[in-house]
Amino acid sequence: MLDLKRANNTPLEETRQGEVLDIATEDIQASKNLYIESYGCQMNFSDSEIVASILAERGYKTVNDFSEADAIFINTCAIRENAEQRVRNRLKEFGAAKRAKPGLIVGVLGCMAERLKAKFLEEEKLVDIVVGPDAYRNLPNLIAEVQAGDRAVNVLLSREETYADISPIRLNSNGVTAFISIMRGCDNMCSFCVVPFTRGRERSRDPKSILKEAQDLFDAGYREVTLLGQNVDSYKYEGSEETGDAGQTVNFAQLLTMVAELNPLLRVRFSTSHPKDITDEVLYSMRDHDNICKYIHLPVQSGNSRVLKLMNRTYDREWYLERVDAIRRIIPECGISADIITGFCTETEADHQDTLSIMDEVKYDFAYMFAYSERPGTLAARKYEDDVPEEVKKRRLTEVVEKQREHSLYRIQNFVGKVHHVLIEGFSKRSDQDYCGRNDQNTMLVFPVDPRYKVGDYVKVLGESCTSATLIGRIID
Ligand code: 5AD
Ligand code: SF4
Repeated sequence: MLDLKRANNTPLEETRQGEVLDIATEDIQASKNLYIESYGCQMNFSDSEIVASILAERGYKTVNDFSEADAIFINTCAIRENAEQRVRNRLKEFGAAKRAKPGLIVGVLGCMAERLKAKFLEEEKLVDIVVGPDAYRNLPNLIAEVQAGDRAVNVLLSREETYADISPIRLNSNGVTAFISIMRGCDNMCSFCVVPFTRGRERSRDPKSILKEAQDLFDAGYREVTLLGQNVDSYKYEGSEETGDAGQTVNFAQLLTMVAELNPLLRVRFSTSHPKDITDEVLYSMRDHDNICKYIHLPVQSGNSRVLKLMNRTYDREWYLERVDAIRRIIPECGISADIITGFCTETEADHQDTLSIMDEVKYDFAYMFAYSERPGTLAARKYEDDVPEEVKKRRLTEVVEKQREHSLYRIQNFVGKVHHVLIEGFSKRSDQDYCGRNDQNTMLVFPVDPRYKVGDYVKVLGESCTSATLIGRIID
């Protein structure tokens, strides 16, 4: 679910949550301007596209400069304390804009809104609206309340809401790759994680609506979709009388296969996988479909079984390594990435060495690495002392980051001299003489523009050299 290129360039703990996205879409008839800024995981970015769609129906067109906006929404992340701090700082700037422009609406969406609820309105006097991830349909009403002079909150979580019928407005799109949310919420209860509290119970979206969204994207020229969920492997759709498909059940492997079989020219990616739930059936589906990218994001969190137990990850080191073996056996060329937390409660130096050694065993293509940040209300905050000193967490993080740097380089160097199947996603950030696009394993390639090919085409690229995060090559016939 990630901007891997950027993550690799800045491998410290900010990599995954620090992304900020300004958006722009066109809706000529709209009479009011909306500005949305998103933080956190891809699910949040995807949700902002749903919000843009809901508000477009009420005449809001999105702009990418907040000084032009009539309503500013900030879609927030609560996963670590520094993610929240960043939002607070940004709100100060929006507050200043509001003082200068009475009537400007400032709303907070997403996980931080859900975590703090009405308290947000007490703490941030310039915020008008607080809306949790399951209440976006209610936004037009909440805006109306604010226009009538109130401040408004809706943080109800739902067991059903999947926004299945809403066609997201693609924001900041390259016109080639898009995200499709296939499920919402999370039932895992990892002890460090606030997500089950902010995003509620797990629910899977109707596969028909997912297939339709993928087909519509393909028809509009898109060539890659990433199926998104907090834990995609536990996707399970169960039909009902109400929806007219009683008895139908679809698991993730089946959904993945159905999406892949829509069109061989549509690439499919997915994120995030859980080591406890990823099945061989998923791996076989990947092996059997050339258009399912050979790349799995498989967060390990720690290499030590005792720490994994405290984290309530429900697998141990051996189980994790067995799943990696299964991936390597069934899809030998598969790229693997991970999330890693350093300095979780009670983590000793020896436990930390286990994390470094599991990294050595797997040699991840990429990793997202974080120092543990205690989150109020989580299992860990209630049960365990946050007893690893900050400087120890940071030092261990530096060691993990350093090791990952070596492994990323090892993986990318192995790609030099090989031919890669690449979808052209656009022009390189540095030069419009170069295209960029990713190989199956999600590594970014940069190669000179060849006028015979355009953005959205597939090409074969020979990797000729590399930096730590990018392969440099040329198109071959
Ligand atoms: N502290 C640090 N990192 C965390 N993550 C989740 N919760 C925390 C926390 N409290 C990391 C995990 C997860 C990723 C999305 O963020 O590694 O997989
Ligand atoms: Fe995404 Fe989790 Fe952050 Fe919410 S708390 S935005 S689900 S990473």
